[in-house]
Amino acid sequence: MSKTHTGALTIALSKGRIFKETLPLLAHAGIVPKDDPETSRKLILNTNQDDVKLVIIRASDVPTYVEYGAADLGVAGKDVLMEHGGAGLYEPLDLKIACCKLMTAGPKNAPEPTGRLKIATKFVNSTRRYYAQQGRQVEIIKLYGSMELAPLVGLADRIVDLVDTGNTLKANGLEPQEHIADISSRLVINKASMKTKHARLKKLIDQISAAVDLSLH
Ligand code: ATP
Ligand code: PRP
Repeated sequence: MSKTHTGALTIALSKGRIFKETLPLLAHAGIVPKDDPETSRKLILNTNQDDVKLVIIRASDVPTYVEYGAADLGVAGKDVLMEHGGAGLYEPLDLKIACCKLMTAGPKNAPEPTGRLKIATKFVNSTRRYYAQQGRQVEIIKLYGSMELAPLVGLADRIVDLVDTGNTLKANGLEPQEHIADISSRLVINKASMKTKHARLKKLIDQISAAVDLSLH
């Protein structure tokens, strides 16, 4: 994967829903991986195109790989991009996959706590920004997952997390409260690659964009 091989493309994807939902879009652009990351332990996957490789990384690491040029492009949730800050990346396309909402949530029918709200979340930057915009002082407690547990054990009054069906909240006696942002996955592109591999990337973006439009009808 030498960076001197300017025709080659490296695409950063995370396992799970982003990989699954990006596959049909890549297939429309003629790119088909040779391995399945759910069964293979490989972190670099070859594709049917000799000069296109996929790197399989944590969802929250995608902006970093693309920003530093370790991958030319990638797919990342808007939640992850909002946390990262988005600097050093182009975000040319909403892929309209992995759709959900970033929301505050708390115990059902709980009264508004007096004093400073304690919010547990892995989305520290987005949470800080949201409450700052509202002029509300909160204490943010950083967690790495299972946020729904925090209000149940008295660690926090509320959480900020992703909500899709609402089933996870419901199963834990919580209810969605304030809507912070609509979330979907975005195509992100390294700024230098956009210049050095412009024709190749432009064609790929157009093909993926056409696939996104098709899947809406
Ligand atoms: P990491 O491995 O970095 O902790 P993760 O476990 O959150 O990331 P995934 O669960 O695969 O990774 O989620 C990837 C993206 O899919 C999220 O960034 C978000 O944009 C979206 N997403 C997360 N949960 C849902 C959901 N329940 N429904 C729809 N989209 C979701
Ligand atoms: C996400 C998110 C919520 C859940 C919301 O978790 O963190 O817990 O989905 O979806 P729902 O409203 O449809 O219940 P995910 O399933 O990705 O698990 P993970 O974050 O532990 O990977």
